[in-house]
Amino acid sequence: MPKLARRVQQLPPYLFVNISRAIAAKKAQGIDVVSFGIGDPDIPTPDTVLDALDRGARKTPNHRYPESEGLPEFRQAVTEFYARRFGVELDPASEVINLIGAKEGIAHAALCFIDPGDISISPDPAYPVYEIGTMFAGGETHFVPLHEEKGYLLDFDEIPTDVARKAKTLWLNYPNNPTGAVADLKYFENAVAYAKEFDLYLLHDACYTEVTFDGYVAPSILQVPGAADVAMEFHSLSKTANMTGWRVGAAVGNSEMVDALMRVKSNIDSGLSQAIQEMGIEALNLPQAWIDGNNEIYRRRRDRVVAALNEIGLEATTPTATLYIWTRVPEGYTSASFAEKMLRERDVVVTPGASYGPSGEGYIRLSLTIPDDQIDEGIRRISGWRV
Ligand SMILES: Cc1ncc(COP(=O)(O)O)c(C=O)c1O
Repeated sequence: MPKLARRVQQLPPYLFVNISRAIAAKKAQGIDVVSFGIGDPDIPTPDTVLDALDRGARKTPNHRYPESEGLPEFRQAVTEFYARRFGVELDPASEVINLIGAKEGIAHAALCFIDPGDISISPDPAYPVYEIGTMFAGGETHFVPLHEEKGYLLDFDEIPTDVARKAKTLWLNYPNNPTGAVADLKYFENAVAYAKEFDLYLLHDACYTEVTFDGYVAPSILQVPGAADVAMEFHSLSKTANMTGWRVGAAVGNSEMVDALMRVKSNIDSGLSQAIQEMGIEALNLPQAWIDGNNEIYRRRRDRVVAALNEIGLEATTPTATLYIWTRVPEGYTSASFAEKMLRERDVVVTPGASYGPSGEGYIRLSLTIPDDQIDEGIRRISGWRV
């Protein structure tokens, strides 16, 4: 056999492969672990959204190839959502495209903007796909550490000027996975100004804007006047509406960037099933009261998990958005050694922070996406633990 392509040889195992293996090994010993590992909502997709699938599945036109950019009705629904939720006006024909989940668009974006040897600037820690997409396109990632004391906001002053001049793309993600950090509009104004100063494509991953607590309302980067000159934003219904399994997302913003992504995608995939786009339309129109109710379930879990971690001496803080608790491990442990200890001694799975990049070393991430009885059991297992 010839050699696999270098891009495949270079691939690290996907983040959760090791966790899945550890869980399987415990299961083989007859032990059921409680997993705070993967961020994948346990709560079902709402009935109104499932009804849209029932209806959509029976429409013959939906049995044929969809268009890559998405149904006009889907793009219109995204446009109305952005107007209602963020006060952002979009042109559905040129500034909105649908995605087979945000991950797909995030990975393919690099093919639009990165040539071999180009630089992409990414936060560290971060959702791994920013870097992997860049690597697939032959580019290199310059990581900028996120610091707890700076509220995990990527500090543009930490990017060397020569790197900024050479770079093509800048990735940001607020509300942030894995840290749970949030950014305000002032921060986004600075980001847009920075991208303009250094002639960067600004890519904002906004997958968690709707998963917020305690009255916090997350902004879109497109609320910054002039942001659409340089920015494209990725939106997802996965976490907002418990739809990870259906794969519905959107990219919105600068029309040239959106068009580039549409052209790449139209050569790779044949779009998102139209019946699923119809679910997406329904989900984009969910009443705020439904979203608030869904977030309230996570808020209750968040408060209980943070309290349990504090009780065993971990200084977990309470995030105002996302499904994640990000907390420092005790002195003397790495993120992996602490996660292993928790699995070995308590049969509880957490994600080592270093899996999200070197600056995640010293932290673990706990996801709130397991049923309440599992949350109870996880808390029972860790309470009273001496670490
Ligand atoms: C920061 C971030 N971006 C993107 C995604 C992918 O979202 P989707 O399910 O829409 O592909 C995730 C999923 O966990 C995520 O955490």
